[in-house]
Formats: sequence, C-alpha cells, structure tokens
Amino acid sequence: MTSTDRKGIILAGGTGSRLHPITMGVSKQLLPVYDKPMIYYPLSVLMLTGIREICIITTPQDQDQFVRTLGDGSQWGLRLTYVIQPSPDGLAQAYILAEEFLAGNPSAMVLGDNIFFGHGLPEQLQAADKRKTGGTVFGYRVADPERYGVVDFASDGSVHQIVEKPDKAPSSYAVTGLYFLDGSAPLRARMVAPSARGELEIVTLLESYLHDGMLSVQQMGRGYAWLDTGTHASLLDAGNFVRTLSERQGQQVGCPEEIAWEKGWISSDQLLERAQLFAKTSYGSYLKRLVV
Ligand code: G1P
Repeated sequence: MTSTDRKGIILAGGTGSRLHPITMGVSKQLLPVYDKPMIYYPLSVLMLTGIREICIITTPQDQDQFVRTLGDGSQWGLRLTYVIQPSPDGLAQAYILAEEFLAGNPSAMVLGDNIFFGHGLPEQLQAADKRKTGGTVFGYRVADPERYGVVDFASDGSVHQIVEKPDKAPSSYAVTGLYFLDGSAPLRARMVAPSARGELEIVTLLESYLHDGMLSVQQMGRGYAWLDTGTHASLLDAGNFVRTLSERQGQQVGCPEEIAWEKGWISSDQLLERAQLFAKTSYGSYLKRLVV
C-alpha cells in the first residue's frame, strides 16, 4: 500500500490545561508557533508523507475555530474531514472515532501539538508509509523521557515494551506523537481497556502490535528536532526555533502551501491566491517569491 490509500488523522483534542490561562478561550493546537498556527506543522508532516485525505479530531467547543482556520483543505489540494471527540478519553480513542473515515485503510496519526523538523524527514516518513502491515512509531532521545511514552529495549536491541510516563524511564527514547498503523488499528483500539486514569492509552494499542510482532520503532537521530509545546517556556522556544531557522535560511518550516505546490496538488495561481490572502505578512511574501 502507498500513501494513496493511507489516510491521515490529526488529533487536536484535549483541554490544554497545562497552558492555561492562554488556552481558556482558544485551542492549544491553534496557538501561534512563530508565524503560523501550531496545527500547520503536524499537517505538513502528513502532507510530506503524501497523504491528502485527513481527519481532524477536535473537542466540541473548538471545532468551529479549526474549520475557520483550515476549511475543507481544497486550498492545499487536500480533503479535510472533521470529527468531534466528546471528551478526552485517550489517544487510542481517535481510531474508534475515525473508524468510518478510515474505512479499513492504513493511517498516519499525528498529535496536533507535535512539531518535527529535520533533513531527511520526508524519506523517514515515506519509509514508514511503505510498510504494508503492522505499525511504525518513532523513537527520539530526550532529556526528560518520564514525560512521554518510553521505549524499553531488550538486551538484543529489540523493543521489549513501551511504557507510558514511567516514574523511572527504562531508556532515554521517547515515542513521538506520530503513529503509522495498518487498517486493523480501529479494531485493536476497541479492545483496549481503559487505564487506571480512565483513558484508552495509545501505548496499550501499540502493545497489541508489539505482541503480534508487528511494531517497528524507527529512530529519529540527533539531526532531527522534535519540539515540545507542552509548557509556556517550551512553546516560546518552539516559536524561536522556527523563527531562527526560517530567518537564517529564508525558507519556511511547516508551510502547507509550499508542500502542496511542490507536490503539484495546487497550481501556481492557487498559490498566488493564498499569497494575496496573506499579502500583509512575510508569510504571504514568501509564498509569492516561490513562483515569481
Ligand atoms: C502522548 C502519549 C505519549 C507520547 C506523547 C508524544 O502524551 O501518551 O506516549 O510520547 O503524546 O507527544 P501526552 O502528550 O498526551 O502527555
């Protein structure tokens, strides 16, 4: 199977309580990361994989804001579908909510607050996309693994288990919020029992693949940035990172218009229309410069 039948999911639910009071009135995933809404970055990751059919899962109260920001996706040659998560009952629930949308197809799910950057990222994504069955997740070395799902390696280097927010991390490798799973994910998600904190945990779903010997962990090496937006300070750091890179290189990070245009999903005229819409910003001038 290729990305032509792999569909995308962006999970943009949650209460954003760790970013209060900013997120009292606006969804976390719509907050700015320098010059664009946070969700542009994970959206770009799915687009770089080659995925054009994407389901955006939001809270009931935030859905309108997402629709206003992203529309139906046609401006980027995409088809966006919106689904509501009535309450934040865990990441694995996304597969149950998106079951009808997925219609048996494999998927790539990215968390709406995860930002990835790195040379070779499209190749990493496409390698994961090519795996026909099973699941692929990405391991990334961090200084504070206890905050994430963590890979526990067996002595032969294979993955023994994945543990969610352990008190004592078995390794420094966090599992990032990007999951390539085959068409059995919704069925497997239905078999996940709620954890002690009452959530359908993504690691329990991953365990099901691991148990069947069908989970690959692809390393994202030190040349990659997997940025955190979970605290006020890390959100600011992420914005500064994007600003530093894009101003130094004169190239955008996480720009859906650029990806769509390079992939031939939108014409130069459509790109210029977007440039016109953002004419008062450096983002708009950037889009214009791509074609002229
Ligand atoms: C979630 C997952 C965790 C993963 C992380 C990546 O944690 O439960 O396994 O490592 O996303 O961002 P949360 O952000 O919900 O605390």
